[in-house]
Amino acid sequence: MGIQMFSDTKRLLKQLGENELYELAKLKNINIPKEWSKTLIVDLLALNVSKKDIQTITTISLKAKIKPKDAPSVIIIKDLVKEFEDVVAVNGLNLEIRQGELFSLLGPNGAGKTTTINILNGVIKPTKGTAFIEGYDVRKNLKEIKELIGVCPQEAAVFKFLNARENIELFGNLHSVSKKELEERTNNFLELLGLVEVSKRKVKGFSGGMLRKLNLIIALISDPKIAFLDEPTVGMDPRARRATWEFIESLKKQKKTIILTTHYIEEAEVLSDRVGIIDYGKLIELGSPQELMEKHESKNLEEVFLKITGRRILEGI
Ligand SMILES: Nc1ncnc2c1ncn2[C@@H]1O[C@H](COP(=O)(O)OP(=O)(O)O)[C@@H](O)[C@H]1O
Ligand SMILES: [Mg+2]
Repeated sequence: MGIQMFSDTKRLLKQLGENELYELAKLKNINIPKEWSKTLIVDLLALNVSKKDIQTITTISLKAKIKPKDAPSVIIIKDLVKEFEDVVAVNGLNLEIRQGELFSLLGPNGAGKTTTINILNGVIKPTKGTAFIEGYDVRKNLKEIKELIGVCPQEAAVFKFLNARENIELFGNLHSVSKKELEERTNNFLELLGLVEVSKRKVKGFSGGMLRKLNLIIALISDPKIAFLDEPTVGMDPRARRATWEFIESLKKQKKTIILTTHYIEEAEVLSDRVGIIDYGKLIELGSPQELMEKHESKNLEEVFLKITGRRILEGI
């Protein structure tokens, strides 16, 4: 058990950059001689830090790169209701999402996140109310909306007998991306997500995490202004998750508006400018992660959710 934990910590430490290793040493008051190699530093830290310390450091360094923005609303959701036969999946949702912000819908399984995204993308029609994307009504102007958005759906939609690169090219061609741009973007995205080596492999052998990454690339291949990412890191190991977070951050730097749904608290905390907490189809809290934690005197968004609902997010419904 002890040895297992030690090698686990070591594995995590190896994934960190030099700056993060030094930050970690500072946190634990460990002096590292300047001439030490990374391997030695990792060995030393592994003896002295916990997974929690590593998490603290990586969260802070990602957060520091994120700056909240104040910008006009590009998505306006008005009194949105979606009823299925025996369940009200979205129950009177009102929400505005600003240009260039990364907005997370956070909530347990069954809260209504995917249903909301599917309405915004025109996959399903609202029962009542509506939403506008750059002024276009999701009930009427889907053609215009499709030009603006990229969607990474919860279920991977790829061709299993093509390889990764062929899948990307196929979707790029469907969106009439020019040959040059398609090649540039494909190479760039494969590199950023660490898929270069597997890009010639048929997708049918891909792991869940690899499929999700491919799906993400396909969603963004048309370089949309607005991206919807539905649970982008489900089924990923910590390393893949981190690569995906950095990829999503790179999208933010390009001033894209990103709507992300997640039931991972840490993901919402690390990436979001603002979070909408959703439960039983209703928005129960809205604000930046920091604001929400301060308001509810909580140390993380899980505690915020717990204080409002008396339940944990991962417990689901
Ligand atoms: N096509 C459907 N038919 C019937 N019920 C559905 C359908 N899609 C979603 N639901 C129900 O609506 C609720 C919200 O689901 P969903 O939006 O998928 O939640 P989330 O994405 O937050 O996990 C759940 O109770 C789910 O079972
Ligand atoms: Mg969902």
